[in-house]
Amino acid sequence: MSSDLLLEVKNLSCHFDVSKPWLNRLIEREPQRFLTAVDNVSFNINRGETFALVGESGSGKSTIAKLIVDLIHPSSGQILFDGLSLRETQGETFKTLRRRIQMIFQDPFASLNPRWRVGDIIAEPIDAFGLAKGQGEVSKRVETLLDKVGLSGRDQHKYPHEFSGGQRQRIAIARALSAQPDFLVCDEPTSALDVSVQAQILNLMQDLQDEFGLTYLFISHDLSVVKHMANRIGVLYLGSMVENSESDQLFKQPAHPYTRMLLDAIPDHEMSGRRRKQVTGEIPSPIDPPSGCTFHPRCEFANTKCTQERPKIHEINGSFVSCWASAENRISISS
Ligand SMILES: Nc1ncnc2c1ncn2[C@@H]1O[C@H](COP(=O)(O)OP(=O)(O)O)[C@@H](O)[C@H]1O
Ligand SMILES: [Mg+2]
Repeated sequence: MSSDLLLEVKNLSCHFDVSKPWLNRLIEREPQRFLTAVDNVSFNINRGETFALVGESGSGKSTIAKLIVDLIHPSSGQILFDGLSLRETQGETFKTLRRRIQMIFQDPFASLNPRWRVGDIIAEPIDAFGLAKGQGEVSKRVETLLDKVGLSGRDQHKYPHEFSGGQRQRIAIARALSAQPDFLVCDEPTSALDVSVQAQILNLMQDLQDEFGLTYLFISHDLSVVKHMANRIGVLYLGSMVENSESDQLFKQPAHPYTRMLLDAIPDHEMSGRRRKQVTGEIPSPIDPPSGCTFHPRCEFANTKCTQERPKIHEINGSFVSCWASAENRISISS
């Protein structure tokens, strides 16, 4: 194992039981029903890098985030952080691992306790993990953290409702950093914010990454947001990873037809001459997914094999792609 490797996600799957209540099922003679939110997903994240997960709503992004921070448990597969699994460690090792992995949620209005002062919100992880001695030191830490995220030490006496969305996300970042983590799972951290505020938060996150040597899993439904943040990008479709490429490579030579569809939908800010196309079709239900490649009903390159056999992952130009058309050279590599 390379020492550069920080997070390994191996063959991760998560099925949710979406059956009707037992008695209804018995009376209506219905079987149990499962929804596959995450389907055999694997990826690695190197220390100090940003790995982005991108996909439309319902593609399984938040489920993967929750699995990584151990809020929910996988149906199968493994998540290793520095070679260790949260599911298989106990005592001090578990506590340290728990501290090193923190999460920032999408909604800065829901993720902060409205009844707590900002200072107490940020101090909680410091107390819980015993990272400072005495009230004076805790308070000094809180002030430093507020300063690092562009707020003022005086803000610790206020309540979350006294802040704007962007400022609240800064508070959430300060709270995550107070645990002195190495790894942050950021689940659409700027999706609820205005565009101008988004850019400020993204810049802040990049500055903090450099200063503290942080590693990020950055989740977004928007490829243009991750373009400048991510070293690698994983594209999810209906719970499956369809493409995993270096960021530049993904934008230059998208290999999967779905990645191309997402790229074609981005407004052409850089005036590259690309025509903007609408994303077409809808994501099918993950309860009853299409056979073969689950993308085939929306894919212009699909043939009979695509409708019948699940594509295997193959490598082209350092990208990992799950697509028969791409594997069989039925689509040209340059976009
Ligand atoms: N607790 C749950 N019970 C049942 N289905 C769920 C649950 N959580 C998520 N899902 C379903 O799993 C799929 C993936 O959801 P999610 O991971 O939230 O996607 P994303 O974050 O990409 O929008 C969706 O179809 C969603 O409805
Ligand atoms: Mg989500």
